[in-house]
Amino acid sequence: MKEERILIVDDEEVICNVLDRRLTREGYFCTTAHNGKEALNHFYKDSFSLIISDIKMPEMTGIELLQKVKAIDPKMKMIMVTAYPEIDLAVNAMRLGAYDFIIKPADLDLIVMSVKKALESKRLEEEIEAYHNHMEELVEERTIKLKQAYRTLKKAHLDSVKVLAEAIDAKDPYTRGHSDRVKRMSLAIAKKMGFSEERLENLEYGALLHDIGKIGIKDEVLQKQTPLSSEEYQYIQEHPLIGVKIVEGVEFFKDKIPMIRHHHEHYDSNGYPDGLAGEAIPLEARIISLPDAFDAMTSARPHRGVMPLQDVLAELEKFKGKQFDPKVLEIFLREKIYKL
Ligand SMILES: [Fe+2]
Repeated sequence: MKEERILIVDDEEVICNVLDRRLTREGYFCTTAHNGKEALNHFYKDSFSLIISDIKMPEMTGIELLQKVKAIDPKMKMIMVTAYPEIDLAVNAMRLGAYDFIIKPADLDLIVMSVKKALESKRLEEEIEAYHNHMEELVEERTIKLKQAYRTLKKAHLDSVKVLAEAIDAKDPYTRGHSDRVKRMSLAIAKKMGFSEERLENLEYGALLHDIGKIGIKDEVLQKQTPLSSEEYQYIQEHPLIGVKIVEGVEFFKDKIPMIRHHHEHYDSNGYPDGLAGEAIPLEARIISLPDAFDAMTSARPHRGVMPLQDVLAELEKFKGKQFDPKVLEIFLREKIYKL
């Protein structure tokens, strides 16, 4: 059984001794003090389960002692004992957190009973607190597990979209890794523009899937070794709308549709499929269109070799405000995002 230590505080030696003897017989370990100050010293040094204190004492009253003890340990049980029964005093003591208020001369059995009740109540409070803490730990543990499961699920999801993006890139042997590069550069631009985590995540998927419509374009056109005829070029231009058709039935992809649909719009309205201009083009689509064009220009194509970087950058500059959003282009060049 837990060792219960009781601090008995009374300026009358006799009372201290009587209480000490009786409570010791009951199995408690008692310490006595003859005024509030002495009691406080014991209280600071030892740990007690309970304090029984007289109220009228020299140097420091029992009420002051009660206040000081409660300020340090609000859970400490204190039984107040007094030979001067005044209702105001009793009310005040209880209001300050005393557990019980007993009038002297008190029947010792009554005091023992109050002590037992106080300690039982303390034990219950501690048990409830421990249970509470345990519940909190459990909730915390479950939350961590749930977060881990969510992360795993999210990663699996992203991985499957990456596989899809690779499948798109594989349709055209000259664009291997294209979606991933567009994703990385788009995210870097968006971070510089102060996108929220949530918006970045959405952009990540949109950038990976922007060309998903190419799945519906015939390989012989996509992989053509000679320059495209105007019909073939028009046919390829259908890929943003084909992409929309592919994803529109899937709830998760709904907010990626603007990026898939508009990644070939031009800032000056000369793009496709809708001929939108300026800020009417969703910002995410304006972002994606730049690394998309840059990566196409820096990759070798069947009908032309790789352009030197300086020429590509000069070319991009030429299309500032025409094909590209000037602000996005500025960030792309200033931050050297093309080096990613
Ligand atoms: Fe495209």
